[in-house]
Amino acid sequence: MGFPTIRPRRLRATPELRTLVRETSLSPKNFVYPMFFNAAIDAPCPISSMPGVHQFPVSAAREQAKAIKARGVNSVILFGLPKTKDDRGSSGLDPDGPVPRAIAEMKSAVPELVMMADVCVDEYTEHGHCGILKQRRNGEWVVDNDATIEVLAEMSVVFANAGADVVAPSDMMDGRVAKIRAVLDESGLVDTSILSYAVKYASSFYGPFREAADCAPKFGDRAGYQMDPGNAREAVREAALDEAEGADMLMVKPALAYLDVIRDVRKASLLPLGGYNVSGEYAMLHAAAERGMLDYERAMMETLTSIRRAGADFILTYHALEAAELLG
Ligand code: PBG
Repeated sequence: MGFPTIRPRRLRATPELRTLVRETSLSPKNFVYPMFFNAAIDAPCPISSMPGVHQFPVSAAREQAKAIKARGVNSVILFGLPKTKDDRGSSGLDPDGPVPRAIAEMKSAVPELVMMADVCVDEYTEHGHCGILKQRRNGEWVVDNDATIEVLAEMSVVFANAGADVVAPSDMMDGRVAKIRAVLDESGLVDTSILSYAVKYASSFYGPFREAADCAPKFGDRAGYQMDPGNAREAVREAALDEAEGADMLMVKPALAYLDVIRDVRKASLLPLGGYNVSGEYAMLHAAAERGMLDYERAMMETLTSIRRAGADFILTYHALEAAELLG
Protein backbone atom coordinates (compact mmCIF):
# COMPACT_ATOMS: atom_id res chain seq x y z
CA MET A 1 0.00 0.00 0.00
CA GLY A 2 1.04 3.51 -0.53
CA PHE A 3 2.57 2.61 -3.90
CA PRO A 4 0.72 3.72 -7.01
CA THR A 5 -0.90 0.89 -8.95
CA ILE A 6 -1.26 3.06 -12.02
CA ARG A 7 2.18 3.23 -13.54
CA PRO A 8 2.66 4.78 -16.99
CA ARG A 9 6.28 3.67 -16.82
CA ARG A 10 5.20 0.04 -17.45
CA LEU A 11 4.76 0.95 -21.12
CA ARG A 12 8.23 2.47 -21.32
CA ALA A 13 10.06 -0.68 -20.29
CA THR A 14 11.38 -1.82 -23.69
CA PRO A 15 11.91 -0.25 -27.11
CA GLU A 16 9.21 -2.57 -28.52
CA LEU A 17 6.65 -1.44 -25.93
CA ARG A 18 7.58 2.16 -26.50
CA THR A 19 7.16 1.94 -30.26
CA LEU A 20 3.92 -0.05 -29.83
CA VAL A 21 2.28 2.85 -28.03
CA ARG A 22 4.03 5.74 -29.82
CA GLU A 23 1.36 8.22 -30.91
CA THR A 24 3.29 10.12 -33.54
CA SER A 25 5.40 8.62 -36.29
CA LEU A 26 7.69 10.15 -38.89
CA SER A 27 7.99 8.92 -42.44
CA PRO A 28 9.95 10.28 -45.40
CA LYS A 29 6.62 10.13 -47.24
CA ASN A 30 5.48 13.13 -45.19
CA PHE A 31 8.50 15.29 -46.01
CA VAL A 32 8.64 17.96 -48.69
CA TYR A 33 12.20 18.93 -49.67
CA PRO A 34 12.70 22.63 -50.54
CA MET A 35 15.13 23.30 -53.40
CA PHE A 36 16.63 26.39 -54.99
CA PHE A 37 17.27 26.55 -58.73
CA ASN A 38 19.53 29.35 -59.91
CA ALA A 39 19.57 30.30 -63.61
CA ALA A 40 22.97 32.00 -63.27
CA ILE A 41 25.13 29.09 -62.06
CA ASP A 42 26.40 25.92 -63.68
CA ALA A 43 27.54 23.99 -60.62
CA PRO A 44 25.87 23.48 -57.20
CA CYS A 45 26.59 26.40 -54.90
CA PRO A 46 26.51 25.93 -51.10
CA ILE A 47 24.43 28.32 -49.00
CA SER A 48 26.69 29.47 -46.19
CA SER A 49 24.00 29.96 -43.54
CA MET A 50 22.40 26.58 -44.27
CA PRO A 51 25.05 23.84 -44.12
CA GLY A 52 24.21 20.97 -46.49
CA VAL A 53 21.79 23.06 -48.59
CA HIS A 54 22.70 24.20 -52.11
CA GLN A 55 21.47 26.27 -54.98
CA PHE A 56 21.38 24.07 -58.06
CA PRO A 57 21.69 24.75 -61.77
CA VAL A 58 18.82 23.36 -63.84
CA SER A 59 21.33 20.91 -65.34
CA ALA A 60 21.44 19.14 -61.94
CA ALA A 61 17.65 18.70 -61.74
CA ARG A 62 17.38 15.18 -63.16
CA GLU A 63 20.11 13.71 -61.03
CA GLN A 64 18.71 15.44 -57.92
CA ALA A 65 15.23 14.07 -58.60
CA LYS A 66 16.59 10.54 -58.73
CA ALA A 67 18.65 10.99 -55.56
CA ILE A 68 15.65 12.36 -53.66
CA LYS A 69 13.43 9.51 -54.79
CA ALA A 70 16.13 7.01 -53.82
CA ARG A 71 16.00 8.35 -50.25
CA GLY A 72 12.25 7.67 -50.08
CA VAL A 73 11.21 11.32 -50.25
CA ASN A 74 8.35 11.83 -52.72
CA SER A 75 7.77 15.58 -52.69
CA VAL A 76 9.76 18.71 -53.41
CA ILE A 77 9.02 22.43 -53.46
CA LEU A 78 11.00 24.64 -55.82
CA PHE A 79 12.20 28.22 -55.51
CA GLY A 80 13.81 30.14 -58.33
CA LEU A 81 16.69 32.60 -58.73
CA PRO A 82 16.28 34.22 -62.15
CA LYS A 83 18.92 35.91 -64.29
CA THR A 84 17.10 39.24 -64.27
CA LYS A 85 14.81 41.11 -61.91
CA ASP A 86 12.53 44.12 -62.37
CA ASP A 87 9.92 45.93 -60.32
CA ARG A 88 7.10 43.60 -61.42
CA GLY A 89 8.78 40.20 -61.16
CA SER A 90 8.41 39.58 -64.90
CA SER A 91 11.12 36.89 -64.98
CA GLY A 92 8.84 34.80 -62.75
CA LEU A 93 6.45 34.49 -65.70
CA ASP A 94 9.10 33.23 -68.12
CA PRO A 95 8.35 29.63 -69.16
CA ASP A 96 12.12 29.24 -69.64
CA GLY A 97 12.85 30.45 -66.10
CA PRO A 98 14.69 28.21 -63.62
CA VAL A 99 11.55 26.87 -61.89
CA PRO A 100 9.53 25.81 -64.97
CA ARG A 101 12.64 24.25 -66.50
CA ALA A 102 13.58 22.39 -63.31
CA ILE A 103 9.98 21.16 -62.89
CA ALA A 104 9.98 19.72 -66.40
CA GLU A 105 13.39 18.07 -65.94
CA MET A 106 12.57 16.55 -62.56
CA LYS A 107 9.16 15.35 -63.73
CA SER A 108 10.61 13.64 -66.76
CA ALA A 109 13.33 11.98 -64.64
CA VAL A 110 10.94 10.82 -61.89
CA PRO A 111 7.31 11.21 -63.04
CA GLU A 112 5.83 10.19 -59.69
CA LEU A 113 7.63 12.91 -57.74
CA VAL A 114 5.11 15.40 -56.32
CA MET A 115 6.29 18.72 -57.73
CA MET A 116 5.34 21.81 -55.81
CA ALA A 117 6.29 25.33 -56.88
CA ASP A 118 6.46 28.35 -54.59
CA VAL A 119 4.44 31.17 -56.11
CA CYS A 120 5.64 34.62 -55.06
CA VAL A 121 7.27 37.57 -56.79
CA ASP A 122 9.91 38.33 -54.13
CA GLU A 123 12.46 36.07 -55.83
CA TYR A 124 11.89 37.95 -59.11
CA THR A 125 11.60 41.60 -58.03
CA GLU A 126 14.46 44.06 -57.62
CA HIS A 127 12.94 45.46 -54.44
CA GLY A 128 12.47 41.96 -52.90
CA HIS A 129 8.89 42.52 -51.74
CA CYS A 130 6.22 39.86 -52.24
CA GLY A 131 4.14 42.04 -54.54
CA ILE A 132 3.80 44.87 -57.01
CA LEU A 133 4.41 48.22 -55.31
CA LYS A 134 2.24 51.32 -55.38
CA GLN A 135 2.81 54.70 -53.81
CA ARG A 136 0.44 56.08 -51.23
CA ARG A 137 -0.51 59.76 -51.18
CA ASN A 138 1.93 60.32 -48.33
CA GLY A 139 4.76 59.00 -50.55
CA GLU A 140 5.07 55.63 -48.81
CA TRP A 141 5.51 52.55 -51.04
CA VAL A 142 3.20 49.64 -50.22
CA VAL A 143 2.30 46.33 -51.85
CA ASP A 144 -0.73 46.60 -54.13
CA ASN A 145 -2.87 43.58 -53.23
CA ASP A 146 -5.08 43.35 -56.31
CA ALA A 147 -2.35 44.04 -58.87
CA THR A 148 -0.21 41.37 -57.19
CA ILE A 149 -2.77 38.56 -57.28
CA GLU A 150 -3.08 38.97 -61.06
CA VAL A 151 0.64 38.24 -61.43
CA LEU A 152 0.49 35.34 -58.96
CA ALA A 153 -2.30 33.72 -60.96
CA GLU A 154 -0.30 34.11 -64.17
CA MET A 155 2.78 32.63 -62.50
CA SER A 156 0.70 29.68 -61.23
CA VAL A 157 -0.39 28.92 -64.81
CA VAL A 158 3.24 29.01 -66.02
CA PHE A 159 4.34 26.58 -63.29
CA ALA A 160 1.32 24.31 -63.78
CA ASN A 161 1.91 24.20 -67.53
CA ALA A 162 5.52 23.20 -66.87
CA GLY A 163 4.21 20.21 -64.90
CA ALA A 164 3.81 21.36 -61.29
CA ASP A 165 1.28 19.20 -59.45
CA VAL A 166 0.88 21.81 -56.73
CA VAL A 167 1.26 25.58 -56.72
CA ALA A 168 2.01 27.15 -53.35
CA PRO A 169 1.38 30.89 -53.01
CA SER A 170 3.57 32.31 -50.21
CA ASP A 171 2.81 36.03 -50.61
CA MET A 172 -0.04 36.54 -48.08
CA MET A 173 -2.14 38.72 -50.39
CA ASP A 174 -5.89 38.63 -49.75
CA GLY A 175 -8.00 36.74 -52.25
CA ARG A 176 -5.11 35.15 -54.09
CA VAL A 177 -6.31 31.58 -53.66
CA ALA A 178 -9.68 32.35 -55.30
CA LYS A 179 -7.92 34.26 -58.08
CA ILE A 180 -5.38 31.50 -58.73
CA ARG A 181 -8.10 28.81 -58.69
CA ALA A 182 -10.23 30.77 -61.15
CA VAL A 183 -7.38 31.39 -63.57
CA LEU A 184 -6.08 27.80 -63.37
CA ASP A 185 -9.60 26.53 -64.10
CA GLU A 186 -10.07 28.94 -67.02
CA SER A 187 -6.78 27.63 -68.41
CA GLY A 188 -7.99 24.05 -68.18
CA LEU A 189 -5.59 23.30 -65.32
CA VAL A 190 -8.32 21.84 -63.13
CA ASP A 191 -6.10 19.09 -61.72
CA THR A 192 -3.43 21.42 -60.33
CA SER A 193 -3.73 21.66 -56.54
CA ILE A 194 -3.21 24.75 -54.43
CA LEU A 195 -1.21 24.50 -51.22
CA SER A 196 -1.82 27.81 -49.53
CA TYR A 197 0.74 29.33 -47.21
CA ALA A 198 -2.45 30.30 -45.40
CA VAL A 199 -0.84 31.27 -42.13
CA LYS A 200 2.51 32.94 -42.60
CA TYR A 201 4.02 35.15 -39.94
CA ALA A 202 6.39 38.09 -40.35
CA SER A 203 9.23 36.07 -38.85
CA SER A 204 12.93 36.55 -38.17
CA PHE A 205 13.37 32.83 -38.85
CA TYR A 206 13.39 33.39 -42.63
CA GLY A 207 16.84 35.04 -42.38
CA PRO A 208 18.95 32.31 -44.05
CA PHE A 209 16.34 31.74 -46.78
CA ARG A 210 16.73 35.32 -47.92
CA GLU A 211 20.38 34.56 -48.66
CA ALA A 212 19.40 31.25 -50.30
CA ALA A 213 16.78 32.82 -52.55
CA ASP A 214 18.35 36.27 -52.76
CA CYS A 215 15.04 37.91 -51.84
CA ALA A 216 15.59 40.15 -48.81
CA PRO A 217 13.41 43.27 -49.13
CA LYS A 218 15.59 46.25 -50.13
CA PHE A 219 13.59 48.60 -47.87
CA GLY A 220 11.10 48.18 -45.06
CA ASP A 221 9.83 44.77 -43.99
CA ARG A 222 6.99 42.35 -44.70
CA ALA A 223 4.80 43.30 -41.72
CA GLY A 224 2.24 44.95 -44.01
CA TYR A 225 1.31 41.58 -45.49
CA GLN A 226 2.68 38.77 -43.30
CA MET A 227 1.01 38.10 -39.95
CA ASP A 228 1.80 39.56 -36.57
CA PRO A 229 3.45 36.92 -34.31
CA GLY A 230 1.02 37.73 -31.49
CA ASN A 231 -2.04 36.52 -33.37
CA ALA A 232 -3.57 33.05 -33.15
CA ARG A 233 -7.29 33.68 -33.79
CA GLU A 234 -6.34 35.49 -36.97
CA ALA A 235 -4.57 32.31 -38.11
CA VAL A 236 -7.79 30.34 -37.90
CA ARG A 237 -9.54 33.11 -39.83
CA GLU A 238 -6.86 33.14 -42.56
CA ALA A 239 -7.07 29.34 -42.85
CA ALA A 240 -10.88 29.42 -43.10
CA LEU A 241 -10.76 32.09 -45.81
CA ASP A 242 -8.27 30.15 -47.90
CA GLU A 243 -10.31 26.97 -47.49
CA ALA A 244 -13.43 28.84 -48.63
CA GLU A 245 -11.52 30.25 -51.62
CA GLY A 246 -10.66 26.74 -52.75
CA ALA A 247 -7.29 25.81 -51.26
CA ASP A 248 -6.65 22.06 -51.38
CA MET A 249 -4.09 22.10 -48.57
CA LEU A 250 -3.05 24.59 -45.91
CA MET A 251 0.26 25.48 -44.35
CA VAL A 252 1.47 27.17 -41.18
CA LYS A 253 4.86 28.87 -41.32
CA PRO A 254 7.21 28.96 -39.45
CA ALA A 255 6.52 25.75 -37.53
CA LEU A 256 8.47 25.74 -34.27
CA ALA A 257 7.52 29.05 -32.71
CA TYR A 258 3.94 28.43 -33.91
CA LEU A 259 3.17 24.84 -32.85
CA ASP A 260 0.08 26.10 -31.03
CA VAL A 261 -1.11 27.64 -34.28
CA ILE A 262 -0.62 24.34 -36.12
CA ARG A 263 -2.79 22.73 -33.45
CA ASP A 264 -5.48 25.42 -33.74
CA VAL A 265 -5.64 25.18 -37.54
CA ARG A 266 -5.67 21.38 -37.37
CA LYS A 267 -8.77 21.55 -35.17
CA ALA A 268 -10.49 24.16 -37.31
CA SER A 269 -10.05 22.56 -40.75
CA LEU A 270 -10.39 19.13 -42.31
CA LEU A 271 -7.91 19.96 -45.10
CA PRO A 272 -4.46 18.39 -45.19
CA LEU A 273 -2.09 20.62 -43.23
CA GLY A 274 1.62 21.27 -43.64
CA GLY A 275 4.13 22.91 -41.32
CA TYR A 276 7.18 24.71 -42.75
CA ASN A 277 10.29 23.98 -40.70
CA VAL A 278 11.96 27.14 -42.01
CA SER A 279 15.54 28.11 -42.80
CA GLY A 280 16.24 29.79 -39.43
CA GLU A 281 15.03 26.72 -37.56
CA TYR A 282 17.37 24.58 -39.65
CA ALA A 283 20.32 26.97 -39.20
CA MET A 284 19.73 27.15 -35.45
CA LEU A 285 20.22 23.40 -34.97
CA HIS A 286 23.36 23.46 -37.09
CA ALA A 287 24.80 26.39 -35.16
CA ALA A 288 24.17 24.74 -31.80
CA ALA A 289 25.46 21.36 -32.94
CA GLU A 290 28.64 22.87 -34.42
CA ARG A 291 29.45 24.23 -30.98
CA GLY A 292 28.79 20.86 -29.37
CA MET A 293 25.72 22.18 -27.58
CA LEU A 294 23.36 19.43 -28.66
CA ASP A 295 23.13 16.17 -30.57
CA TYR A 296 22.16 17.24 -34.10
CA GLU A 297 20.38 14.07 -35.19
CA ARG A 298 18.33 13.68 -32.02
CA ALA A 299 17.38 17.36 -32.04
CA MET A 300 16.36 17.10 -35.70
CA MET A 301 14.12 14.06 -35.15
CA GLU A 302 12.59 15.60 -32.02
CA THR A 303 11.87 18.81 -33.92
CA LEU A 304 10.20 16.98 -36.81
CA THR A 305 8.18 14.85 -34.39
CA SER A 306 6.96 17.97 -32.58
CA ILE A 307 5.59 19.43 -35.81
CA ARG A 308 3.72 16.22 -36.62
CA ARG A 309 2.51 15.90 -33.01
CA ALA A 310 1.11 19.44 -33.14
CA GLY A 311 -1.07 18.31 -36.05
CA ALA A 312 0.81 18.72 -39.33
CA ASP A 313 0.26 15.95 -41.87
CA PHE A 314 3.40 16.87 -43.78
CA ILE A 315 6.52 18.94 -43.15
CA LEU A 316 8.44 21.15 -45.53
CA THR A 317 11.97 20.75 -44.26
CA TYR A 318 15.61 21.15 -45.32
CA HIS A 319 16.28 18.12 -43.08
CA ALA A 320 14.18 15.90 -45.39
CA LEU A 321 17.00 13.90 -46.96
CA GLU A 322 19.08 13.37 -43.83
CA ALA A 323 16.02 12.52 -41.70
CA ALA A 324 14.84 10.10 -44.39
CA GLU A 325 18.22 8.42 -44.31
CA LEU A 326 18.00 7.95 -40.53
CA LEU A 327 14.47 6.57 -40.82
CA GLY A 328 15.91 4.04 -43.24
C1 PBG B 1 8.62 34.00 -49.96
C2 PBG B 1 9.09 32.90 -49.10
C3 PBG B 1 9.92 33.00 -47.98
C4 PBG B 1 10.10 31.70 -47.49
C5 PBG B 1 9.39 30.85 -48.32
N1 PBG B 1 8.75 31.60 -49.29
C6 PBG B 1 10.63 34.19 -47.42
C7 PBG B 1 9.91 35.32 -46.86
O1 PBG B 1 8.69 35.34 -46.72
O2 PBG B 1 10.61 36.26 -46.55
C8 PBG B 1 10.91 31.34 -46.28
C9 PBG B 1 11.31 29.92 -46.16
C10 PBG B 1 12.37 29.66 -45.14
O3 PBG B 1 12.78 30.54 -44.36
O4 PBG B 1 12.84 28.52 -45.10
N2 PBG B 1 8.67 33.65 -51.32
